[in-house]
Amino acid sequence: MSNTILAPAKPGATNHLEPEAKCDAMKLRHLIESQQFTVPLLMELFHRSRGMERVVARGGSLDYQNKILATLFYQPSTRTRFCFEAAMQRLGGKVLSTEHAGTFSSEVEAEQVEDSIRIIGSYSDIIVVRHPEAGGAKRAAQVSPVPVINAGDGEGGQHPTQALLDLYTIYRERPLVGLSVAIVGELDKGRTARSLAYLLAKFERVKIYFVSPPQMQMKPDILEYLNEHGVRYELESEIDRVIGEVDVVYQTRIRPERVRDRHELQRYAIDSTVLGKMKADALILHPLPRTVELDKTVDDDSRALYFKQAANGLYVRMALLTMLLERDQS
Ligand code: CP
Repeated sequence: MSNTILAPAKPGATNHLEPEAKCDAMKLRHLIESQQFTVPLLMELFHRSRGMERVVARGGSLDYQNKILATLFYQPSTRTRFCFEAAMQRLGGKVLSTEHAGTFSSEVEAEQVEDSIRIIGSYSDIIVVRHPEAGGAKRAAQVSPVPVINAGDGEGGQHPTQALLDLYTIYRERPLVGLSVAIVGELDKGRTARSLAYLLAKFERVKIYFVSPPQMQMKPDILEYLNEHGVRYELESEIDRVIGEVDVVYQTRIRPERVRDRHELQRYAIDSTVLGKMKADALILHPLPRTVELDKTVDDDSRALYFKQAANGLYVRMALLTMLLERDQS
């Protein structure tokens, strides 16, 4: 497998942040939160992800046939779990999996995540964990004998690998420097939105519009981080006020049970009317799954990238697995 393929964005786009000659992927032991990534490390990951597109196009590799990935999910998942398992299998590795860890494992008898991780870490080379508590993945990493990847922890925690594939999808289309992005939805508890905000903050002249009902706005910890790093942002409650300005709309769910009035939900939805107000070359992303906030009529619009975004997850997660496994065996 080659690691020498450079990662230009689409023809016509220029990215000012090409991989540095020597990137320090070795610092990454576990992936728990997206702040762990520096720009050089992101470029190293994206560089590898481009290479993985070619690996998948030729049917995969056998380079990791002696490696085992364990996926330990305490909460439901379709995309993330399948994606990680496909990524390991495309690398030639094997997978151990539990989909309802809290129900079917001995955790139902109050076994702590720490004990489960210690044991699963003795059977596998890397563990992907989704946990209902913010901080659950960090607890796992603190005792794990093998690398741990956070596949989503708690409400208001993080989902860093989702944000990495989100950013990679944007990177493949246009420069990340100077980007304006609307992050829309239930932001206080949105772990994908939180992880993406941290990553966007790494790039110069980015502007983020957080668009949500006021009671669901982005939490102070993220806003403080943006203030500390000189990142421009605005808090907005009306999608119409920003939709024509931004390069990227990152749409996320608002759970209906948190909103009394269904019209309130509709105010944050993207449909054919909202499409008509967006820039002709804007990008529409969504981590999925969706409900009413992203109308199916949007799917055929050339700006809708969310299925491509989900597909990109395979390349990014393959690349991430190689980085963590290489570091672990060095
Ligand atoms: N985007 C995402 O995390 O989807 P799943 O919940 O299906 O993994």
